[in-house]
Amino acid sequence: MEDLFAGMAEGYEAWYETPLGAFAIAEEERALKALLPPGESLLEVGAGTGYWLRRLPYPRKVALEPSPDMLRVGRARTPEAAWVAGRGEALPFPEGSFDVVLVFTVLEFVEDVGKTLSEARRVLRRGGSLLVGILEALSPWGALYRRLGEEGVKPWSGARLLTREDLRRLLGPPEAEGEAVFLAPEARPPFGEADAAGRRAGNRPALYLGRWR
Ligand SMILES: C[S@@+](CC[C@H](N)C(=O)[O-])C[C@H]1O[C@@H](n2cnc3c(N)ncnc32)[C@H](O)[C@@H]1O
Repeated sequence: MEDLFAGMAEGYEAWYETPLGAFAIAEEERALKALLPPGESLLEVGAGTGYWLRRLPYPRKVALEPSPDMLRVGRARTPEAAWVAGRGEALPFPEGSFDVVLVFTVLEFVEDVGKTLSEARRVLRRGGSLLVGILEALSPWGALYRRLGEEGVKPWSGARLLTREDLRRLLGPPEAEGEAVFLAPEARPPFGEADAAGRRAGNRPALYLGRWR
């Protein structure tokens, strides 16, 4: 299996330092934190560099990551999590191991979406929560990522973008939902106003979040 993220780990969070990136990631963090369920233990499937694990308030955090490059950087930057090499399709944990499982912009890159989701549910304790974030295929950002993928730009060349309707088909209706980043990739500052304009225009947001039990 090709590692679409090989060589990207060091610079993975650099975009968050740009004005547009800082706006977008702050909006995503607000939407994610609004959906967080209580719990002791969190597993992030496809944890990348651990950006979210550094920000989420759970006493026990486990990071699963298949890319050796992302795993190396994630482990160095996010030592508060226990890092495990592996793929979402075959989680190396017994059933009922976690209160919360987070799958944030990862389904786009897995080989088998259904298997990844059923594995995430298997390792949740009874009554635990599955949080899934996707890059909306029908958003202006989805259009950009699709074009980049067609041009062969990694990781988009290997991505399969999903919609919220795809998630509903796979998981049923969520108990709660969140959205963030309505502005378009070419938006100019002030970004708050551009975001409000994107919302008024009926843009789908770049990020859709759902929570399931
Ligand atoms: C866009 S990044 C998101 C990283 C992190 N969740 C975040 O939001 O910062 C996608 C991550 O999914 C990982 N990934 C790719 N295929 C995977 C698979 N089959 N199982 C689990 N993770 C996978 C990639 O290596 C990469 O780190």
